[in-house]
Amino acid sequence: MNSSLEKTLLASIRTIPDYPKPGILFRDITTLLGDARAFRRAVDELVHPFAGTKIDKIAGIEARGFILGGAIAHQLSAGFVPIRKKGKLPHETVRVAYSLEYGVDEMEMHKDAIAPGERVLLVDDLIATGGTAEGAVKLLKQMGADIAAACFVIDLPDLGGRAKLETLGVEVRTLVA
Ligand code: PRP
Ligand code: ADE
Repeated sequence: MNSSLEKTLLASIRTIPDYPKPGILFRDITTLLGDARAFRRAVDELVHPFAGTKIDKIAGIEARGFILGGAIAHQLSAGFVPIRKKGKLPHETVRVAYSLEYGVDEMEMHKDAIAPGERVLLVDDLIATGGTAEGAVKLLKQMGADIAAACFVIDLPDLGGRAKLETLGVEVRTLVA
């Protein structure tokens, strides 16, 4: 990625200290999403490596992965699958527990959302410890998905998430660290 894009994206991300818990530096992408140029450039850059390749579904992680994932799905003419916090999906689900930088939770995906062998791109705004993305990868593998890659705007490299996903054999793409 060129450094002008990196600068644009970094300048558009806001940092909130002590949110949602003391000691956490929260990287807030609502400012990036509200900046038309930064939003478009981030989506274009995430889409670029997969343009012209076969991607059947984008799996977006609640909540900010829905916004980026929807835009990416549209550009790649792929379907969109929501991975949601427990209790939000109306049909039969598969569920997994996970931990993240500031807590623990459970996430779910509809059982019939992905057919075995479908090529899936996992999307979220940020990877920190990788606990959330690891949970999503477990669900996707349980469904027999062929995971093309996992894409994030922000990597917090000190927290080791990228390495965790790569250990699971998943290619990781991020735009800024
Ligand atoms: C944030 C972020 C990722 C996750 C990353 O979501 O959007 O999903 O944390 O953390 P990890 O790599 O340590 O697992 P959050 O759980 O705050 O949920 P929200 O998007 O619903 O606010
Ligand atoms: N998810 C986990 N850690 C985070 C952080 N520091 N900022 C935003 N989202 C996060």
